Amino acid sequence: GGLRIIAVQFESATGTTMTQDEMKQAVAQAAVDHIQGRLEDDSIIGVGTGSTANCFIDALAKIKHRFAGAVASSEATAERLRGHGIEVLDLNSVSQMEFYIDGADEFDPHLNLVKGGGGALTREKIVAAVAKEFVCIVDQSKQVDLLGAFPLPVEVIPMARSYVGRQLAALGGQPQYREGFVTDNGNIILDLHDLEVLDPKALEAQINNMVGVVTNGLFARRGADIILMGTPDGVETIR
Ligand code: 5RP
Repeated sequence: GGLRIIAVQFESATGTTMTQDEMKQAVAQAAVDHIQGRLEDDSIIGVGTGSTANCFIDALAKIKHRFAGAVASSEATAERLRGHGIEVLDLNSVSQMEFYIDGADEFDPHLNLVKGGGGALTREKIVAAVAKEFVCIVDQSKQVDLLGAFPLPVEVIPMARSYVGRQLAALGGQPQYREGFVTDNGNIILDLHDLEVLDPKALEAQINNMVGVVTNGLFARRGADIILMGTPDGVETIR
């Protein structure tokens, strides 16, 4: 474990300070560079959701003839992939996946993540589970010592909303119903505010054990394998 910076791979072409968007594009390109040497004609790539994942999809499109297709972690991602002419496959027809590439809302020095700000956490966790390597792409605003400043998203079966809300409150946090939002799976999201995550693996299991919870946004039992982090000075690789 521990945070170890092993490479700086990118510098702003202009030499000026990079904007957050430029950092996202830089890590997206770094992710393409990271995977492309290991792609085969029949490779299937798992693709996450969010603004950083969108940058990755756009960068991936440039090498779309080098692999067979992708599995999407959301309807929005599937649509963007198809828009680039990348074939989107059903996960059930895929038995092997080398890479899953996705962003995160927070990551800690042990490569534990909080995800689900975009509400796609359940499909993200499923696709990540299948992949051999989870490559997480972030800008440096996502780096924390302790998870929990970003409200933890929890996907819940609609009829269990109040019950699960009470259970989550009993953990010491403040659950907030994400108004007007329905997941791709037809469920609701409770965002758990003000909870210090001292033991991410234990908390992930504890919340997932609540009846009515589909998944929570802690990716600790299966965290990232490598993080590519955009900074104003370039992309840092953390593993
Ligand atoms: C979506 C996610 C995203 O990875 C997370 O919200 C980060 O998004 P962005 O790259 O836009 O900051 O987990 O459910």
